[in-house]
Amino acid sequence: MNTKLLPVTPESIAEAGGIIRGGGLVGFPTETVYGLGANALDGDAVRQIFRAKGRPGDNPLITHVASEAEIAPLIRGGISDQARALMRAYWPGPMTLIFPKSDRIPPEVSAGLDTVGIRMPSHPAARALIEAAGVPIAAPSANRSGRPSPTTARHVLDDMDGRIPLILDGGACAVGVESTVIDVTGRVPRVLRPGGVTPEMIAAAAGAVEVDGAVMRPLREGEKPRSPGMKYRHYAPEGALTIFEGEAAAVARAICARYDAAPDGAAILALPGHEALYGGRRVLPLGDKDSAESVAASLFAVLRALDDEGVKLIFSEAVDEAGVGLAVMNRLGRAAAFHIEKV
Ligand code: TXA
Ligand code: MG
Repeated sequence: MNTKLLPVTPESIAEAGGIIRGGGLVGFPTETVYGLGANALDGDAVRQIFRAKGRPGDNPLITHVASEAEIAPLIRGGISDQARALMRAYWPGPMTLIFPKSDRIPPEVSAGLDTVGIRMPSHPAARALIEAAGVPIAAPSANRSGRPSPTTARHVLDDMDGRIPLILDGGACAVGVESTVIDVTGRVPRVLRPGGVTPEMIAAAAGAVEVDGAVMRPLREGEKPRSPGMKYRHYAPEGALTIFEGEAAAVARAICARYDAAPDGAAILALPGHEALYGGRRVLPLGDKDSAESVAASLFAVLRALDDEGVKLIFSEAVDEAGVGLAVMNRLGRAAAFHIEKV
């Protein structure tokens, strides 16, 4: 199959909508990461997503809608006051809510669970595509399973060339980490995956929040995760990654010692402004401003660059877990299989 890469125009959106309606797959931009979309109401179309990504069949997909009116037929039991408060505050945007699912959602989307994740993205191209398709769109991140999520159309092409007919190029994604996944089926909203909508923001809108314990640690032997995605070593660079936590100068000394002892070379991930702490050693900056938002926006591109260059050993500074920093440390922590050293 020949994969076309087209800029976002009314014509390319119409073509992409036709592909989705016809049961095919399209790579498209959202404000978080690029998605790999199919008609969420068509189990056969959704099965192709799993094939193209090499995704395990027990990992459910998020269903994307462009308006609130599309949600009622997809869920069961109505929308709680807390869920409604979150929707009002943060949709459209980088937030996915887990509801009990209706029979309209095929088992391929929910991977056999009785719930469904719904998200209303804010990216204009994503919204236009859902409207052009005329159906809700099931979409995971558009990477091959186990690779960092794509934040540019080029990343999608690197992973999906020859596997899908069309990628819409909407430039780099603004948020850069995937949406916050929040289970709203219980009494208190529970964060299953941190993202651009932070626990602080959730508490402000809904009055309370819990962060699932598995967000910042590996799963325990035999533990059944609330979100199947937590089982998989997502976001894994090919090199071995270790994170160092502590005061900046002490972290830099510890990293330099390990870097200098590496026989085959290594790379350092450091916050902008910290380069000078590492002398002439090989540093990849995490973002361009010292803010968690900036680190989030650059993180997956940096991890991909390390893979492209075949770096075997990576040492990274930790990021403060406040705000979107929790999402950054969740992704970085998983990429490092939670090898975090305190100095
Ligand atoms: O920002 C995003 O969420 C992107 C863009 C394309 O919207 N999508 C995305 O999808 O990251 P994916 O499939 O790569 O990650 C979805 C995560 C997985 O960890 C999955 O296990 C979890 O959400 N998930 C989906 N449905 C769920 C459900 N019903 N219950 C619990 N977890 C669910
Ligand atoms: Mg993914």
